[in-house]
Amino acid sequence: MGSEDSDLEWKQYSSEDELPLVMDLIDKELSEPYSIFTYRYFINNWPQLCFLVLDQGTCVGTIVCKMDQHRYAFRGYIAMLVVDKPYRKRKLGSKLVCRAIEVMRQEGVEEVMLEAEVDNYGALALYENLGFIRDKRLHKYYLGGQDAFRLKLLPRMEQSSQAEAEASSTVAGAPDVAQESSDGCSTDSAGKGDTSGTSELQ
Ligand SMILES: CC(C)(COP(=O)(O)OP(=O)(O)OC[C@H]1O[C@@H](n2cnc3c(N)ncnc32)[C@H](O)[C@@H]1OP(=O)(O)O)[C@@H](O)C(=O)NCCC(=O)NCCS
Repeated sequence: MGSEDSDLEWKQYSSEDELPLVMDLIDKELSEPYSIFTYRYFINNWPQLCFLVLDQGTCVGTIVCKMDQHRYAFRGYIAMLVVDKPYRKRKLGSKLVCRAIEVMRQEGVEEVMLEAEVDNYGALALYENLGFIRDKRLHKYYLGGQDAFRLKLLPRMEQSSQAEAEASSTVAGAPDVAQESSDGCSTDSAGKGDTSGTSELQ
């Protein structure tokens, strides 16, 4: 069992010194091998879409993403998501995804995609809880020959902003409660109400 949530530090990627921390965790847990060039491609181009959860300097959770124009849509893509085993089932993975999506949404992303192995039931449940749907099945997508599901989310930015505006007008003076946005990321888990190390993100 890892440290209490309040002892964990959340941070956006900010320097090359953090690259080995991210790589060590991902290499340990993901089945697909990635080269240093792949990490650099994602993280150097989109550092604002990489987040780390640190426990006393050790990276215990991370997400790596990108966003770019894809045909007619400005698309976000989640490339890697890992939470270290002792820290799982505490919503760290969900919060990492929500933080990345929040930045994507602010930068105008219209859809978010990723692939997950068809038998990665934990990851599939996590993403589907956040509103992702199965877009297609990709035959023998991984090097090991496994199939993947491509998952897709439409962040529905307008509805989300409207919901947030309505929420802020109705909760004035009321107890601070997490508001659910239309893509399943509560404003709390997206980082606005979460005080655990978010200062550098705001
Ligand atoms: C997938 C992973 C990132 C989940 O991280 P996590 O911090 O444990 O996830 P969360 O606590 O946010 O889980 C949110 C929901 O996802 C689902 N979920 C997560 N792990 C699950 C598991 N092992 N089995 C079933 N459901 C699971 C549950 O619905 C959970 O909600 P609940 O706790 O209310 O039941 C983590 O298990 C991991 O790093 N796995 C190895 C790497 C990997 O597969 N990455 C994804 C590649 S697509």
